[in-house]
Amino acid sequence: MERRKPPSKPNSGPGARKRKRVKATDIAKTALGEEPEKRTRNKSAPMKGEAAQRQLNVHVKTAKRREYGSTLWLKRQLNDPYVRKAKAEGWRSRAAFKLLELDEKFSLLKPGARVVDLGCAPGGWCQVAVKAVGSRGRVVGIDYLEMPSVQGADVLAMDFLDDAAPERLKELLDGNIDIVLSDMAAPTTGHKSTDHLRIVALAEVALDFAQDVLAPGGAFVCKVFAGGAEGELLKLLKLNFASVKHAKPKASRSDSAEKYVVATGFKGKP
Ligand SMILES: C[S@@+](CC[C@H](N)C(=O)[O-])C[C@H]1O[C@@H](n2cnc3c(N)ncnc32)[C@H](O)[C@@H]1O
Repeated sequence: MERRKPPSKPNSGPGARKRKRVKATDIAKTALGEEPEKRTRNKSAPMKGEAAQRQLNVHVKTAKRREYGSTLWLKRQLNDPYVRKAKAEGWRSRAAFKLLELDEKFSLLKPGARVVDLGCAPGGWCQVAVKAVGSRGRVVGIDYLEMPSVQGADVLAMDFLDDAAPERLKELLDGNIDIVLSDMAAPTTGHKSTDHLRIVALAEVALDFAQDVLAPGGAFVCKVFAGGAEGELLKLLKLNFASVKHAKPKASRSDSAEKYVVATGFKGKP
C-alpha cells in the first residue's frame, strides 16, 4: 500500500521563509517615546492587544559595545507585555496603564477636570489625562526631560525642584485644580538611603504644591516606594485629605518597590 507523506509543517524545511523579527531597539525606543527607524519592507499592520503579547520572549544578543546591565534592561523591555501593549495601543509609555488602573479603581479623572502631571515625560500619563478630561478639561505637565508635545496638554520643560517652577505652573493653570499627579522618580544612585531620601523629598515637594493649588475635594496621586507614604508625609496626607489609600497597579513591576499613594477629598488649604 502506498504510504502517504505527512503534510509538511508550514514555515519549516530548507525552503521556508524566515519569520520576520521585530527589531529590538525599535520596541525599546517606542516605549521611551522615541521614533523607531523607518523601514520600508515591513508593510504589516501594527500588532494589536493579545497578538502583541503572544510574541514575547525576545532574545537579546550581548553586543560588544553594550554593557551587560543595558542588555538586561533591553531584554526586560522587549519581553514586557505592557511595553508591547503600549506600543500597539499608541501610549507613549507602559506607565500609562498604571494611571488607567488607578483611575478605574478610584475614579480620579472626570470629564472637565483640571490636572497637573509632575514628572510627565515621555507623556503616557498626559495622554491618559487628556483623553479622560476631554476638551473642557485642562492638563499641564512638567519634566526636566524634553518630550514631544502631547496634543491637548501644555508641558513645561523645567526641573520641578527649581524655585520658580510652582509659579510657572500656576501661571499656566490660571486657577485651582482638581488633581495633582506625580510619577516623578529621580535617577537612582544605588545608595539605598540616599535614593530613599530623594524619593521622599520629591513626594513632599509635590504634596506641598498640591496643597497650594488643589480645590477643595481635589485629589493627589503620588509615586512612593517601599512601605509607601510614611512619617511626616503620611501625617500631612491624613490630616488634609478625607481618604488616603495605597495601591500597586498590575502594570507596576512586581520586583519594583514602587507603589502609589492616592489621597482624595482635599479638605482645603491648611
Ligand atoms: C517614571 S517617569 C514618568 C513617566 C510618565 N508618568 C509617563 O507616563 O510617561 C519619571 C519622570 O520624572 C521626571 N522627574 C524626576 N525628577 C524630576 C524633577 N525634579 N522635575 C521634573 N521632572 C522630574 C523624570 O525626568 C522622568 O521623566
